[in-house]
Amino acid sequence: MKAIAINGSPRKGWNTEKLLKEALRGAESVGAETKLVQLYDLKYTGCKSCFGCKRKGMESFHCSLKDELTPVLEEIFEADAVFLGSPIYFGDLTGQMVSFLERLEFPLCSYDDYSKQLFDGKVNVAFFHTMNAPKEYYKNAMEKPLEMRSSELLKRLGGSVEVYASCDTYQFNDYSKYHSGMFDEAHKRKVRENQFPKDMEAAYEIGRKLMSK
Ligand SMILES: Cc1cc2nc3c(=O)[nH]c(=O)nc-3n(C[C@H](O)[C@H](O)[C@H](O)COP(=O)(O)O)c2cc1C
Repeated sequence: MKAIAINGSPRKGWNTEKLLKEALRGAESVGAETKLVQLYDLKYTGCKSCFGCKRKGMESFHCSLKDELTPVLEEIFEADAVFLGSPIYFGDLTGQMVSFLERLEFPLCSYDDYSKQLFDGKVNVAFFHTMNAPKEYYKNAMEKPLEMRSSELLKRLGGSVEVYASCDTYQFNDYSKYHSGMFDEAHKRKVRENQFPKDMEAAYEIGRKLMSK
């Protein structure tokens, strides 16, 4: 059994990576081999619209573009589960995560028949979003669009897709050193101490559960 985590945050060791590592620990607890990939360490681009994956006789769920993302995409197709993590930047995923998803998802879509399933394997997916926004705002304004964006295309990997949001994250080691008057540090600290550990437990459980699906 294999699980691979893809960190779409540029900040190593911060909220997104912490959750991904917990998901990997959960997967390891049931015997999975695991790996963590840092997108910001890799040189790659988004889809360049070469349409190599749509060429007659060559239709394939493999991206034709070759760069440092290529081996990562191949490993995902061979995994039992993939854990994606992205902070929310301006209401969306990070640029690196968007570029990564273009390369993963576009080749999974057939231009002959949108309902055609090109990939015949099964990779379960969990998508972890981290954000400064409080849970209530996420529930009202972000949950539906993020779930739709994450689930729709990732279902083409043939497995289940789960989305988890960690809200109101702690952003700086020392709030006093940054212009951050819009945020109440005491509240942020409380969330970090009380809620974030629960998010970590949830990530562990998702990681464990996805290996046995
Ligand atoms: C460029 C940038 C844009 C951001 N935009 C948003 C946003 O639109 N909504 C939000 O809730 N948080 C936003 N944030 C906050 C991050 O999503 C949040 O701090 C996240 O947990 C960071 O993940 P990390 O700790 O793994 O780096 C933004 C942060 C940056 C640096």
